[in-house]
Amino acid sequence: MKTYLVTGGAGFIGTNYIHYMLAKYGEKIRIINVDKLTYAGNLENLKDAERLDNYEFVKADICDKEAVDKIFQTYDIDRVVHFAAESHVDRSIKDPEIFAKTNILGTLVLLITARKYWEVSDGEYKEGKKFLHVSTDEVYGSLENDTDFFYETTPYAPHSPYSASKASSDMLVQAYIDTYRFPANITNCSNNYGPYQFPEKLIPLVINNALNGKKLPVYGDGKNIRDWLFVEDHVKGLDAVQEKGRLYEKYNIGGHNEKQNIEIIKIILDTLLEMLPETDARRKNISEKLITYVEDRKGHDRRYAIAPDKIQRDIGWTPETHFEEGIKKTVQWYLENEDWMENVTSGAYQKYYEEMYSTGRR
Ligand code: NAD
Ligand code: TYD
Repeated sequence: MKTYLVTGGAGFIGTNYIHYMLAKYGEKIRIINVDKLTYAGNLENLKDAERLDNYEFVKADICDKEAVDKIFQTYDIDRVVHFAAESHVDRSIKDPEIFAKTNILGTLVLLITARKYWEVSDGEYKEGKKFLHVSTDEVYGSLENDTDFFYETTPYAPHSPYSASKASSDMLVQAYIDTYRFPANITNCSNNYGPYQFPEKLIPLVINNALNGKKLPVYGDGKNIRDWLFVEDHVKGLDAVQEKGRLYEKYNIGGHNEKQNIEIIKIILDTLLEMLPETDARRKNISEKLITYVEDRKGHDRRYAIAPDKIQRDIGWTPETHFEEGIKKTVQWYLENEDWMENVTSGAYQKYYEEMYSTGRR
């Protein structure tokens, strides 16, 4: 039985990863989910996993050296899958410091501790130990030319405090590979969408606001382009990198699905109208009249586009979900999980941990 330490497993991608891995491998694996439960971490996402013997939650900050050390001391960790991060560009523009702390120092604490427990002699590690650092395409900066793509060899040119902090963390992982022959991979993924995404990010924000007849804020001219990937395809890619990827390598993961923000918003409005029953009173709210152009994001990157050629060639991974299908699944999930949206927007989900874990029920 392999033991996975998943950091940030109560967030959007971490939650989807844990669900996927438990469904795929069952009791062949054990997952230790370590999460600080910031505003973005919602333990309720993993209610089903909590009854399993091969899943455990540890509330800790990855910057806390002692807490991280204790986890490695307690569990014989085989794989680290590192998601924990501050992840929202707009927040990083307002308050960059926490991004440097969590994303850079937190990653370094994990690297120092994993090496301490895994290295047997200089550059030699216990068999099968692997560290997967989950990063973003935003480290490559902005593409101004429509025919360019991000490759693994594209030089880093981050613009926001978020992407600068992720770029720094990638470089630390690469430094560990180069200096200590540390057994790691780095993946750089494009924008994800799907179930459990916090409604500060474009797609869930638009779904939620449209349903409530609230304005849909479009930054700048709405023509910025992102390469959208269904989250389930991403987590499959992460598993494939660990199982079939070459150790020490870096892989770009992308959806081959470039869309302007304004296109995304219009597709969501159409999808909502298609999926809501004729009798649903909220249909009257849903209209392009809600679209409101607002001041542009500072330093707003124009276009991101991944060339996932290497992961396709080396591992055989390709994005499986067409955007039309992925967005329907996503809208459907948000319509079926209105309580979830209510809880995260009201902050009520933060009580869940107190109720579940402080009363000794676990
Ligand atoms: P998220 O914000 O939804 O979740 C982050 C999780 O990390 C939360 O559960 C939060 O509580 C936890 N966390 C934050 N600070 C912590 C700390 N100091 N110690 C322990 N836990 C902490 O983020 P996400 O969208 O799921 O992204 C996960 C990872 O994937 C991030 O590293 C992000 O950079 C990367 N990524 C995200 C996208 C995307 O589109 N969302 C795309 C590419 C890469
Ligand atoms: P976001 O979901 O924050 O992801 P990222 O900044 O990491 O790419 O934003 C996606 C795009 O949507 C980005 O170009 C900014 C834009 N955007 C809006 O136009 N309005 C919004 O309210 C939000 C949250 C984002």
